[in-house]
Amino acid sequence: MSDPTKQFGTKASLQQQKTESDTPIYGAPAVRRTKRVTRQTLLERKKRGERFSCLTAYDATMAQIFDEAGIDLLLVGDSVANVVQGHETTIPVTLDEIIYHTKAVLRGVLRSMVVADMPFMSYQISPEEAFRNAGRLMKEAGASAVKLEGGHRVLEIVAHISEAGIPVMGHLGLTPQSIHQFGSYRTRGTEKKEADQILRDAKDLERAGCFAIVLEKIPSELARQITEALTIPTIGIGAGVHCDGQILVYTDMLGITNDFQPRFVRRYDVMRERMLEAVGQYINDVRTSTFPSDEESY
Ligand code: KIV
Repeated sequence: MSDPTKQFGTKASLQQQKTESDTPIYGAPAVRRTKRVTRQTLLERKKRGERFSCLTAYDATMAQIFDEAGIDLLLVGDSVANVVQGHETTIPVTLDEIIYHTKAVLRGVLRSMVVADMPFMSYQISPEEAFRNAGRLMKEAGASAVKLEGGHRVLEIVAHISEAGIPVMGHLGLTPQSIHQFGSYRTRGTEKKEADQILRDAKDLERAGCFAIVLEKIPSELARQITEALTIPTIGIGAGVHCDGQILVYTDMLGITNDFQPRFVRRYDVMRERMLEAVGQYINDVRTSTFPSDEESY
């Protein structure tokens, strides 16, 4: 019989995962018996003052690598519109496309919590429609939670979805789906009025039922105030070191993209250059008939 751990993760990484006190997944195949990170895990981490790490993912191969590395949460972000589909904004991506990518990510993951973004127009029309669409992300795609953008305008929607049993992650500060309303990707909350509103929105989102809130591109001091004011975890992207967790778009942090380098992105590698070099080498080897060799042929 084949060893299922070979397919999705090293034995060492699975062993380490088994020592954590996450919730077991009952009734799932053997390969799925690993304990998944849940909203409760993140809450306990906050209580213990332990930071957690998140990345975006859009396909099974990358999700498997991030999961094996020990990432706690993978977000199937609407940034798939930029990263995978080549759009300028996140607005064009559809619910069906997020479902497709979420299914792919889940096939690569044993331990990470997988959260699916609700795309533009999938939750704004009415709480009922938002619930129906959030339900598709859970039932068809298999996500553990959904994320949606906004503060006071989405409170009723958040309450409706979370009361029905679907965990909701909020998203405040820079909210890319509103790019045409704001007109720029500037830092939010630098002025007192806007900062007060973001803090109020964060408290209201917690009361409405959010289990965590992404804080994007706001001053570090504002993120500290919000993080201290809430019992639920905050997840920062361009929001400084005081958030309970951090998230980055993986193509930015691995240096695969080179046209987007804001100061909040730390590039842990410059993979674009290494990929260009490797592909260039391959092109050259084909051209000079040094690939394939006898050993690589039948
Ligand atoms: O879509 C996305 O990738 C996001 C993160 C930037 C938080 O919303």
